[in-house]
Amino acid sequence: MAPRRKKIYEGKAKVLYEGPEPGTLVQYFKDDATAFNAQKKATIEGKGVLNNRLSEYFMTGLTNIGVPNHFIRRLNMREQLIRQVEIVPLEVIVRNFAAGSISKRLGLDEGTPLPRPIVEYSYKNDALGDPLVPEEYIIAFGWANQQDLDDIVSLALRVNDFLSGVFYGVGIKLIDFKIEIGRVWDGDFMRLIVADEISPDSCRLWDIKTNQKLDKDVFRRDLGSLTDAYSEVARRLGVLPTNATNIKPTLIN
Ligand code: TMP
Repeated sequence: MAPRRKKIYEGKAKVLYEGPEPGTLVQYFKDDATAFNAQKKATIEGKGVLNNRLSEYFMTGLTNIGVPNHFIRRLNMREQLIRQVEIVPLEVIVRNFAAGSISKRLGLDEGTPLPRPIVEYSYKNDALGDPLVPEEYIIAFGWANQQDLDDIVSLALRVNDFLSGVFYGVGIKLIDFKIEIGRVWDGDFMRLIVADEISPDSCRLWDIKTNQKLDKDVFRRDLGSLTDAYSEVARRLGVLPTNATNIKPTLIN
């Protein structure tokens, strides 16, 4: 198949193509899943379609409550039109309950409530395995300044409150998530907006009653079918029809 558009960047789960207008990009969601800095890899049929839909759902919700983000509109099953941003080279992680790396680092049982939402940063660098970094490093190396960090925390906490509520409404506990932040310019004025994606690839989601995992930990820890888990999230949110058993016939543009 001849490429329709110029490829700008290819990551582990998505590809960015030149957009139809200046300042826009097309974000394509692949079926590829990776974990542990791509030491574990698989192709999971339908994941890209689900994440395209789910990221559209969350970003649209954020727009509707006034949280600026890169989403413009969905183009088709696997692609969405987004604003071109300059990505801040940080993974911004918000945790409500202990799990994953904080559990390991501090010896906390997974699921332990944290005293308050904790925001932390990893430096986006695959060769280094995205190391956790303190604000001191971020400012000293100029990845963001203090004002940017204040704005980033404020965005991250608004996203946390929004997502926690949306998931709570469908019986899911938001344990933690990761977002990325982009810079956009309106003339000389720089603003920070939510970018990348919000999907079960970048969240930890547990069923409130059973603690069943409905996120990428299913793949990381070999807990079953990732497509089933993500379809369940989509179905609960009404992004998939409740009676859908197979995403292929039901998720037609
Ligand atoms: P962690 O417990 O492994 O630090 O992960 C915290 C959250 O960030 C979890 O929801 C998964 C997400 N995350 C990503 O989206 N990408 C990554 O590369 C990593 C390490 C975590």
